[in-house]
Amino acid sequence: MSALDTSVVVAVIGAGAMGAGIAQVAAQAGHPVLLHDSRPGAASAAIEGLGVQLGKRVEKGKLDPAQREATLARLHAVQALDELADAGLVIEAIVENLDAKRELFARLEAICTADCVLASNTSSLSITRIAAGLARPERFVGVHFFNPAPVMALVEIVSGLATAPQVAASLYATARAWGKAPVHASSSPGFIVNRVARPFYAESLRLLQEGAAECATLDALMREAGGFRMGAFELTDLIGHDVNYAVTCSVFDAYYGDMRFQPSLIQAALVDAGRLGRKSGQGFYDYGPSAARPVVSELRSGLRIEACEVEGDLGIAQGLLARIEAHGIKVSRAPSRVEPAPTGRCGSGLDPRCGHAVIRVGDAVLALTDGRLASQRARDEGLHNLVLFDLALDYATAGRIGISWSADTTPAARDQAVALLQAAGLVVSPLADVPGLLVMRTVAMLANEAADAVLQGVATAADVDLAMRKGVNYPQGPLAWADAIGPTQVLAVLDNLQAAYGESRYRPSLLLRRTVAEGRALHD
Ligand code: NAI
Repeated sequence: MSALDTSVVVAVIGAGAMGAGIAQVAAQAGHPVLLHDSRPGAASAAIEGLGVQLGKRVEKGKLDPAQREATLARLHAVQALDELADAGLVIEAIVENLDAKRELFARLEAICTADCVLASNTSSLSITRIAAGLARPERFVGVHFFNPAPVMALVEIVSGLATAPQVAASLYATARAWGKAPVHASSSPGFIVNRVARPFYAESLRLLQEGAAECATLDALMREAGGFRMGAFELTDLIGHDVNYAVTCSVFDAYYGDMRFQPSLIQAALVDAGRLGRKSGQGFYDYGPSAARPVVSELRSGLRIEACEVEGDLGIAQGLLARIEAHGIKVSRAPSRVEPAPTGRCGSGLDPRCGHAVIRVGDAVLALTDGRLASQRARDEGLHNLVLFDLALDYATAGRIGISWSADTTPAARDQAVALLQAAGLVVSPLADVPGLLVMRTVAMLANEAADAVLQGVATAADVDLAMRKGVNYPQGPLAWADAIGPTQVLAVLDNLQAAYGESRYRPSLLLRRTVAEGRALHD
């Protein structure tokens, strides 16, 4: 299916933040663009604003002056809806209200030609539901741009029950031609990104609520170990708690109260208090002029480590060993001595290596978290002084790592573990003994949600991963990340989390369980 020809007139309705950005994208791609807003003067003001913005880009040498002129020449403000009769594509970006959108599209059906594609930029309403009132719902589709539309590459092309496949395919090709990274999604609550991203916020919020660490420590770990651009607290402070909480509530309600999407009481309290984040001067952090710099907890050791012993295969954490060796510490290797857990839980009993690789340094035993509490795992495996470390995106380059330890760990043994990680160039941040630590459980839950979205036919594995990389800048797609960790390990983490909490929130996706049972990867 080919992209719409650039001679096709694109109409954009709603000249707010999104509409103005989408109009700019279409005009820059070469289409004549008609911009309409029900507020008199809003469309022409938006085009003037774009002129100023593009002027700044010209001044900085980022845009050719002729391109600015050509883009502006293609943008036309129109006062009356009737003037959109020539459009071949209408993109609606008005207020997020079902009745308002339905009423608008009913009017457009009477104005536009029969082959005009009607599209909505809604981020939370059902495409199927908006289309239900239309005479020709097959030409109606969702085109969900991300904010700011000219900058963010992702566009979710959302098909409702009635959307004709060729309409979705044509808009997909068109978004590509506009320089975007489109993905196909079927209309379901949150589409891809707003659904799969929920655990990113939820797991940090939950760990804060359970006293695992302070916000600043959790944020630092998500950035410097997880490789995310921001941690959940600084990001929700930026988005605004009213907005982020509303999205979570709408997804939770839309999935009939599935506990996976349960909103957080501590975020609700911030909304109730009017602490909406940066925009109100206070959220999880304080943004006032006299605000103190948040303190990130760290453990430091004065010990010098000469050698350590590794038993078994550390899998994803293998890069840590090269790093330890590169810092002059002798690493000797031995086969695993640890017996599989009597519960048979780790790795669901499928991978005998899972969770049984350890690094011994002095009295301490270090291991990558498998979702069990440190004290539980120490007991299961008859280990003493067990120190668990968290997942890192790349152990070779991570700046920080989170650790927790079993209740019987002596301060001296913990110090030895910290000294080893510190000697390898890592800053060590403590977490309480919580299942799955922070980065591992967040990534496992992101992958789990991604797997369920694929299982339920919302999108392909490739499109889910692309959406999360391009829509919310994740350093890796959750499914590819789960493949790198090992689907068996991810399943073990989820099984162990579910056992620790006894909640359906952590139930593994059938797709993940099936993938492990079939011995393949999520991206196969
Ligand atoms: P906005 O409030 O900045 O702009 C909406 C504009 O629509 C206003 O200028 C308003 O006067 C106009 N409008 C309202 N009702 C109208 C009608 N019946 N006919 C014509 N114009 C009308 O809103 P924003 O943020 O640009 O969002 C627009 C749409 O895009 C919403 O559906 C929203 O859910 C969606 N969206 C928003 C994102 C965001 O980050 N702000 C991201 C992705 C989608």
